[in-house]
Amino acid sequence: MQQEIITSLDFGTQKLSATVAIREKDELKILGVQSCKSAGIEKGLLLDIDKCRDVAVSLLKDLEKKTTVKSERISIGISSNKVRITEVSTVVNIQEKVTSADIRKALKNAQRDFILSDDECIVDVLINFYILDNKVIRKDILNWKGSKLEINLTLVIAAKSEIEKYYELFRKTGYNIGSIKLNILVGKQVFLNEKNSMESIVIADIGAGTTDIALFTDGIPKSINSIPIGGRNITKDLAICGKFSFLKADNMKKIYSSNYKALYLDNSLEEEIEVGTTKVSRKLFYEVVNARIEEILSHINIKLKNTGHYDRICSIILYGDGVNYFEDIDEIVRKIFKIKTKVIRKNDLGIKNSENITSMAIAKEVYDRLNLLEDDNIILTNKHNDNKVINEKEHLHNNEGENHILKKVKVFFDKIF
Ligand SMILES: Nc1ncnc2c1ncn2[C@@H]1O[C@H](COP(=O)(O)OP(=O)(O)OP(=O)(O)O)[C@@H](O)[C@H]1O
Ligand SMILES: [Mg+2]
Repeated sequence: MQQEIITSLDFGTQKLSATVAIREKDELKILGVQSCKSAGIEKGLLLDIDKCRDVAVSLLKDLEKKTTVKSERISIGISSNKVRITEVSTVVNIQEKVTSADIRKALKNAQRDFILSDDECIVDVLINFYILDNKVIRKDILNWKGSKLEINLTLVIAAKSEIEKYYELFRKTGYNIGSIKLNILVGKQVFLNEKNSMESIVIADIGAGTTDIALFTDGIPKSINSIPIGGRNITKDLAICGKFSFLKADNMKKIYSSNYKALYLDNSLEEEIEVGTTKVSRKLFYEVVNARIEEILSHINIKLKNTGHYDRICSIILYGDGVNYFEDIDEIVRKIFKIKTKVIRKNDLGIKNSENITSMAIAKEVYDRLNLLEDDNIILTNKHNDNKVINEKEHLHNNEGENHILKKVKVFFDKIF
């Protein structure tokens, strides 16, 4: 089989992260991952295309140098802001055995038959399960014998005007969009496993500008939500209350997040803590941060209550860097959520850097899709040009460490659930 390059790019408010991998025989091999400071994205939405293009292209070029692989088709990961999902079923007749072509046809039919409003477009189609001649099959359907195949799908529907901005970003850059994934839904690749996916589980990514939430039942996404708040709000609150610049406040926040409560409680200390020449009252720091974290978590709780599935949720997984590094986060979480909740930090996962988790998960999602369909080009509304990118560099860097991160994360979850 030809080696196929899979390049993914997670568009975050604070950082961009990219992964280059190849699909080889039965394996996804991660060749390199890299992140950089983001620009032009606010609350998960692309606001300044030019600014964002500069950082995105420079990140992809850096990664090309690092891996010596030229990427062209990029699978992008975006926030759930202005995105909705809906579940549909579609049926195709099978000649003898189920083939990739049958599934591709079913996916195309489902998209064609679904009525969208003028300002919407389908960006992704997820396969939830199959019913082959009345038998439910969850995965590995290829080559099964049968005559009638029903597929349960989730359509991911986004605001067309937002998606067009991403196409505009890549225009004339030498790159084009291969597929569009929702960052929170690819979180499934990292956080759902055989054990926990049989129940209702929530994953929530609290980032810089947005908090994205997905609820899965039996591994099927039942609801997604996006709240336009995150770590940046904590920084802004500190900046306003302490009268600092945003940068100073952000710096101070990161320095004291791991011990801000202990500092607040230690009466032997001076009233103020300092970073360089900047001083802030310990009490003010604690109260401002604490109130905002509680607010963010309460918003998540309200969204979950509104899903109609609240009583069935067995566990909540919180990831992203927005609030997870604060000293008393576990305590605040216990206060707000009455459901078992796990806060994920890079140390929990035994990795140095959690920034690239989402771009790696996108690559894994694209890899799985290629294995099933032999083609990732199944979205009818995609405007990409059809430059198939196949660059057959044999001698690629052997990035064992990064390659093992997803496996490691899975092992971690096997232990806690
Ligand atoms: N050690 C830390 N302590 C406190 N806050 C931190 C720490 N490290 C990062 N942050 C905050 O986490 C936020 C960035 O989180 P993350 O990298 O998950 O966001 P993103 O994916 O770029 O953004 P989004 O998902 O909102 O588009 C920033 O607000 C940053 O200040
Ligand atoms: Mg993010």
